[in-house]
Amino acid sequence: MYLSISFLISYKKNILSILMFLVYLFLPILIYSLKIVTKPFSSTYKFKGNFYWKIGRTNDFLKKDLKRILFDDFPICIYRDDRGILNAVSDICMHRGASLSRGKILNNDCLQCPYHGWEYKSGLIENIPGCPGIKNNFGIPSFLIEERYGDVFLCPTFDTNSKVGIYPEVPIYVPPEAKNKDFTKISGVKQIHRPFSLITENVLDIMHISYVHSFGNSLAPVPFEVEYDKINDYSGKTTFYYTAGPTSMSSLIGGATYVKVENEFHLPDTTVTRVFAGNIIKTIVTNSYPIGKNESILHFDLYRNFLVNPIFDPIFHIQMDITLKEDIRILNGIYDNYIKGFMNTKYDVTQLKYRESWNRNYIDEEKYKLKNNTKNKI
Ligand code: FES
Ligand SMILES: [Fe+2]
Repeated sequence: MYLSISFLISYKKNILSILMFLVYLFLPILIYSLKIVTKPFSSTYKFKGNFYWKIGRTNDFLKKDLKRILFDDFPICIYRDDRGILNAVSDICMHRGASLSRGKILNNDCLQCPYHGWEYKSGLIENIPGCPGIKNNFGIPSFLIEERYGDVFLCPTFDTNSKVGIYPEVPIYVPPEAKNKDFTKISGVKQIHRPFSLITENVLDIMHISYVHSFGNSLAPVPFEVEYDKINDYSGKTTFYYTAGPTSMSSLIGGATYVKVENEFHLPDTTVTRVFAGNIIKTIVTNSYPIGKNESILHFDLYRNFLVNPIFDPIFHIQMDITLKEDIRILNGIYDNYIKGFMNTKYDVTQLKYRESWNRNYIDEEKYKLKNNTKNKI
């Protein structure tokens, strides 16, 4: 009797250990088969800034229309599916590298490659012609994309399919004017053959206004009462005053002698220039993202709470056009290797604070390794 019980116990124990051994053996295979693999690997796009960037406007992306953008030389295909949801996926087909934005959206909401017809749903392989039974646990990277108040923001560093890359920690910035019904706006976009950081820093440059721009006051070019305030870890603001130029809008429409200007940055690339003259406010918001090392796309919005009838829009378009031409002419003459300069004055405070905030928050390869190592040790 005693023997048969002990035999039973040892038999059960053996079964249990065999089962444990099998689980141990097949678990990694099971986990691996559930894991989603995407190509190219995240090392190709991961260190392009851990932020959301404005890449266009809601109206730029129509249903079933395929758009291709370059973000720091990495091609991304953006489309709105049948439900109206925006998708941003790598533009490189994992079969033979064809540009997916030259394909089409099928009735099953799949993005079809124009070369051999592979079908992707939100970046994952749904169907390969002639190869039935393929599992959809592999595909191409799919990126985070958000819409806010008519603008579209992309985070090109985190793949939501494989869950690898760098997740954006900085919130998307929306200017208060975008939510305020008293303001009307005009918008525009321009491709500029200069690095995005140079374009952003130029808008944060207080002192260039009177020397570069025809609307500046060359009779009294130096702003007074320059004051910097930190808004948060990702944003800062400088407030300063100017004597209004005799032929400026502030003088002619606002009847102002002095002009108050607020100049803000919000990481990664937003600048806000808010000009107060009497009761009138004009706010220019810019965003500029890198399409390559020395090539950027600049988006701008000009908000105003005066002359709000759209009949006046062309005046502001012309004004923006002249202003940008004046800026670009100067930027084109800056020496590539000396963009950061050697010396600063108190009027360069906004640019310097922007650089400081960028360096503190931007995650490069080294910082990423350090952060992950510390996390693993905790
Ligand atoms: S290259 Fe896309 S299906 Fe062959
Ligand atoms: Fe300028």
